[in-house]
Amino acid sequence: MYDIPQLDLPPLHGASGTVRLPGSKSISNRVLLLAGLATGTTAVHALLDSDDTQVMLAALQTLGCRLHWQGGGDARVLHITGLGGRLLVHEADLFLGNAGTAMRPLAATLAVLATLQGGHFTLRGVPRMHERPIGDLVDALLPLGCDVQPLGRPGYPPLVVRGQPGGVLQARTPIRVRGDVSSQFLTALLMALPLAAVDSDVVIEVEGALISKPYIEITLNLLARFGIVVQRAGWQRFTIPQGSAYRSPGVLHVEGDASSASYFIAVGAIAAHGGAPLRIVGVGSDSIQGDIRFVDAAQAMGALVKSGPGWLEVHRGRWPLSALSMDCNAIPDAAMTLAVMALYAEGTTRLTGIASWRVKETDRIAAMAAELRKLGAHVVDGPDLIEVTPPEHWQAAAIRTYDDHRMAMCLSLAAFNPLAASGSGRPVPVRILDPGCVAKTFPDYFEALFGVAAAEHVPVIAIDGPTASGKGTLAAAVAQRLGYGLLDSGALYRAAGLAAVAAGISPDDEAGVAALARALPLRFGQGPEAGRTWLDGREVTEALRLESTGVLASRVSELPAVRLALHGLQLAFRRAPGLVADGRDMGTVVFADAALKVFLTASAEHRAERRHKQLISKGFPSNIADLRSDLEARDQRDMQRSVSPLKPAEDAQLLDNSDLSIEASVQQVLSWWRASGPLAGVLSSAS
Ligand code: DC
Repeated sequence: MYDIPQLDLPPLHGASGTVRLPGSKSISNRVLLLAGLATGTTAVHALLDSDDTQVMLAALQTLGCRLHWQGGGDARVLHITGLGGRLLVHEADLFLGNAGTAMRPLAATLAVLATLQGGHFTLRGVPRMHERPIGDLVDALLPLGCDVQPLGRPGYPPLVVRGQPGGVLQARTPIRVRGDVSSQFLTALLMALPLAAVDSDVVIEVEGALISKPYIEITLNLLARFGIVVQRAGWQRFTIPQGSAYRSPGVLHVEGDASSASYFIAVGAIAAHGGAPLRIVGVGSDSIQGDIRFVDAAQAMGALVKSGPGWLEVHRGRWPLSALSMDCNAIPDAAMTLAVMALYAEGTTRLTGIASWRVKETDRIAAMAAELRKLGAHVVDGPDLIEVTPPEHWQAAAIRTYDDHRMAMCLSLAAFNPLAASGSGRPVPVRILDPGCVAKTFPDYFEALFGVAAAEHVPVIAIDGPTASGKGTLAAAVAQRLGYGLLDSGALYRAAGLAAVAAGISPDDEAGVAALARALPLRFGQGPEAGRTWLDGREVTEALRLESTGVLASRVSELPAVRLALHGLQLAFRRAPGLVADGRDMGTVVFADAALKVFLTASAEHRAERRHKQLISKGFPSNIADLRSDLEARDQRDMQRSVSPLKPAEDAQLLDNSDLSIEASVQQVLSWWRASGPLAGVLSSAS
């Protein structure tokens, strides 16, 4: 998760490997609500864990559904015990973020339940949610006898729905709903009205042409799994049979998200040109999601796609891509990806039937046009269309994402600009503002992208300095702010020393330690395990930090064969989007081409004091004078050894942090980075 103000993507020039998709948002939120209403307990596998599902889960919990998690990671299963159609809680204030898939169906469901069983519910969201229309749904509910009132602007959330126990629903006459603004209104009614089909069938009639039909298919498919078989006459009339009742199917597996797949299908079409395909796991030929038809559009542009149940494999085919002219009504969300693929096509791509973009997380037509133009594309936008012609001159750009996950994910594809056949000039970096907004549906999107994309030049910040100068703390903070990876190269020497001791090899046995170092069984914890380290399966987090281990490391690091053995391991840390590496020779030897080199020092007195405080806080008694003479001895050894001695690189920035706070040092390094990093001079810091 990149929870930072901006993420700079280096130019990317290839892709291969495997991406595992998160669960489908549309399926996840529908399943949650249906399981929450049903009789019985449903075990939901592969549920999406994102902002939109979290607001739905919180709402269901507030309403009294029992939720129980089992297992962890990819194998996590949610057991959800439904209400069996009976309200347990009659009054609640629900916050639904910016999740249309929660707001619309919950509003309809609670309106129906409150009318029949009594209740008072408020439904609200983030400010953008309060700009997303819901009036057509309210208009459909009022003739049923539901009491649904806006708290602010008519036709928009927040809403209050209420009723007295024993109320009646006028469900015998057909319920009419508009289908041409958002298909979620029809979905909401289809999910709510089985609760009203007690004495008679309930009929829903759609007014106007129904948009986004594939989403209605998902709804009908999932309703069927929960025991509700809706009869459909074309796309205008839907009948819910009398006596319908939600029954848990017991177990349900959520497919990977087909809209999320679109970004990687595009990556494959643009960048899988090296022989190996890009494999996408989670959706495939058996998908029930409409956005899987994005595959056809990508193929029309040139992608080579193979598929099977639960998987896709994508290769670049035609290059440059072919421009496309397409009515995107059936794949509104994935169509955004086509608008960005258009940057790599020959000619002008014209997408129509996208009026619904205007009422999504943001006005996506306006947003897409503005950001594509920043990259240098020629864009024409209309009420329900967008036309994109690739840039003649690509421009580095700071891409605004409008709190819209799809804007961030789509526009990240601009980082493949070194591959663009159109345009002339140098590859340009792309800055994504507020990259954390992808958490709405795909919290690890950028990690997945960097896992398969290759960058020609990954930027490195090298921070070298003597022991206890605070370089580890500084490097970690800078890496965190930039969303870059971190290499604590000292830890590798420390681990080599520990491995030697464990194997009974003398720290002076150059060949013996080097052989261990070449195949160091070291594992750094990721995610919740970040900051922890294992050597040969044994946790060494604490052992690595011991003063005695530092001395051991200093000894083995004098051996040229050991340094050579660890060289490749250190280079392997250089992965997109960037690396902050700290040690003794990061700027002078290992990453001599680092875009920024910092040599961090502090007086021996300050360093001894800091180390003293650190040790005391961990409960290790120590003496400042001894510490000072130890670290001075270590400095001498590190500076005087024959290979890669500790010294500032010629082009290093010197930073004495004796009297600086950590934050002040971080700010200094970030300001050097703004001045000398890959986006220096291309973008002002304000953009
Ligand atoms: O940074 P540190 O205290 O964890 O480093 C431990 C020892 O490892 C240090 O005394 C010298 C050696 N080292 C090195 O030689 N080159 C590096 N890049 C990092 C550490």
